[in-house]
Amino acid sequence: MFLNGDNKYTDETTKLMALVRKKPLPVHVAIIMDGNGRWAKKRGLHRVAGHRQGVETLRDVIKTSDDLGIKHLTIFAFSTENWKRPVSEVNALIDLLVEYLRKEVMELHSKNVKIVILGCLDAFHPSVRREIERAVELTKDNSGLNINIALNYGGRAEIIRAVKNIIQDVNDKKISPDDIDEKLFSSYLYTANIPDPDLLIRTSGELRISNFLLYQIAYTELVFTQPDVLWPDFNKKTYLEAIVEYQNRQRRYGGINT
Ligand code: FPP
Repeated sequence: MFLNGDNKYTDETTKLMALVRKKPLPVHVAIIMDGNGRWAKKRGLHRVAGHRQGVETLRDVIKTSDDLGIKHLTIFAFSTENWKRPVSEVNALIDLLVEYLRKEVMELHSKNVKIVILGCLDAFHPSVRREIERAVELTKDNSGLNINIALNYGGRAEIIRAVKNIIQDVNDKKISPDDIDEKLFSSYLYTANIPDPDLLIRTSGELRISNFLLYQIAYTELVFTQPDVLWPDFNKKTYLEAIVEYQNRQRRYGGINT
């Protein structure tokens, strides 16, 4: 890919790509794709134009993740709180997701990508659910990159759902209270069978978690981009830089370096 006909960008990303391959890569990258609205506003465009451009960024990030052999890419596409937005924006976001799945699911499938949904789909129109479930069903046996789409997802709601299901299973005598430990609790989350994120990236300079993967990010390395890197501005170079930053961190999990 060339930027303004200048091959400097290509050289730089090629070098970064080679650099990140030298050290252990994150197995699981989670992303809060923030700043679409601001990106659009800066250009005098409607917020939805920002989301549409955000899908282009997502496409590039998926490609880079796949090229690097990252196993899990989890994206915060729609939160339980996003329903508070104007109905036109909510509908536009849902339409974008459906359009994306309709257009790209076959190609993703051919690349061995598995699509997983984190969140409750009950709130969506049956036609939307059908499209999402079709993509999940089609790709469920794929063994390549897992794209975990957090949809109508909230970390607190996920934890409360897990607690209720555990209580139900205790009452039904399927498990005993003594069985409850971190491993069992994790298996009741939407992310059951998915390792915790190694790296969480948030674009646009906001220093918040916003109810994303609250339980899972206990030991995740957090990388926040500069405020001028809004999600549509995020690209292969900024993604690779975030991975380099992750690779330069010392992960101690509460222990000490030996
Ligand atoms: C945050 O930007 C972004 C979102 C709430 C939605 C992100 C969704 C997409 C990129 C499209 C989803 C589609 C697929 C295919 C998964 P913001 O609107 O909060 O930005 P702002 O903070 O500048 O207002």
